[in-house]
Amino acid sequence: MPTIDDSKCILVIGATSGIGRALAQRIAKLPNKPQVIAVGRRQERLDELATEGLETIQFDVDTDTESLKAFVERTVVAYPKLDTIIFSAGVQYESNPITPLNFDRLRSEFNLNYLSVVTIINLIVPHFSKLAAGGQPCFFIPITSGLAILPGAWVANYCATKAALHNYTMSLRVQLEGQNIHVMEIIPPLVESELHERSSANVERVSKVWIPLDKYADETLEALQKGEAHIPTSMSKIAFDRHEEGKLDWVRQFLQQQKKSESG
Ligand SMILES: NC(=O)c1ccc[n+]([C@@H]2O[C@H](COP(=O)([O-])OP(=O)(O)OC[C@H]3O[C@@H](n4cnc5c(N)ncnc54)[C@H](OP(=O)(O)O)[C@@H]3O)[C@@H](O)[C@H]2O)c1
Repeated sequence: MPTIDDSKCILVIGATSGIGRALAQRIAKLPNKPQVIAVGRRQERLDELATEGLETIQFDVDTDTESLKAFVERTVVAYPKLDTIIFSAGVQYESNPITPLNFDRLRSEFNLNYLSVVTIINLIVPHFSKLAAGGQPCFFIPITSGLAILPGAWVANYCATKAALHNYTMSLRVQLEGQNIHVMEIIPPLVESELHERSSANVERVSKVWIPLDKYADETLEALQKGEAHIPTSMSKIAFDRHEEGKLDWVRQFLQQQKKSESG
């Protein structure tokens, strides 16, 4: 089964902190020494990663389709061996359905957490297809959340963006089966990171129960090295096992039925 150990060139979008940075740093040290390209907005963080031997691109992914197209085109020209993308850029705003919404945040959260990912995937598929046909396994690695499966009502829109990405990821996986383009979905539980820094009170509260970042990144890398299709951990594994087990088989069968009915 192809695994992250087969990757030669990996783009990590959202690599300047948290899960993205921890994975990027670990992957860059794998024995096969893949090229790792870190993407984020904070230049000083990118500069730090450059001193560790990573390539860097400063880019704000919360943007329009044309800018994403230009970003993908530039990246493929600069890194023609790009075979793997980890989508770690994400924001989480408090929002619940019964208090007034900040509409700009609502749209930005959905654009960054969902639309930008789906847009980049769609734009890169032709490039991956060429590499995959030549024998190089390619990987999409979206990072969703346990909250995609069991929503936290205080971060309602965030959960909906992650549920959208989780759902899309299932369709992506079954549509790409047999094409040497693989999907490994990382489904984190509560993990130590800057995502939770909207207030010091929040950090104090969640830090009592979050999984330390280094421990989480070590375990996740191990799962990526096994080529696991779904990578839930701890609480997100409980939610996944209870609500999602076997769902993918149904999605696969549903697609096969649809293809059959179209062909005949
Ligand atoms: N930590 C958790 O408990 C948890 C749980 C479930 C799922 N997740 C998911 O895991 C992923 C990583 O989160 P994290 O916890 O590691 O959070 P984090 O430490 O806040 O990291 C988020 C990363 O996204 C980048 N980013 C944010 N906005 C961006 C933009 N507009 N353009 C480009 N990059 C942008 C940030 O870099 P810049 O600010 O430099 O741009 C940073 O590198 C997210 O998708 C999150 O939803 C996290």
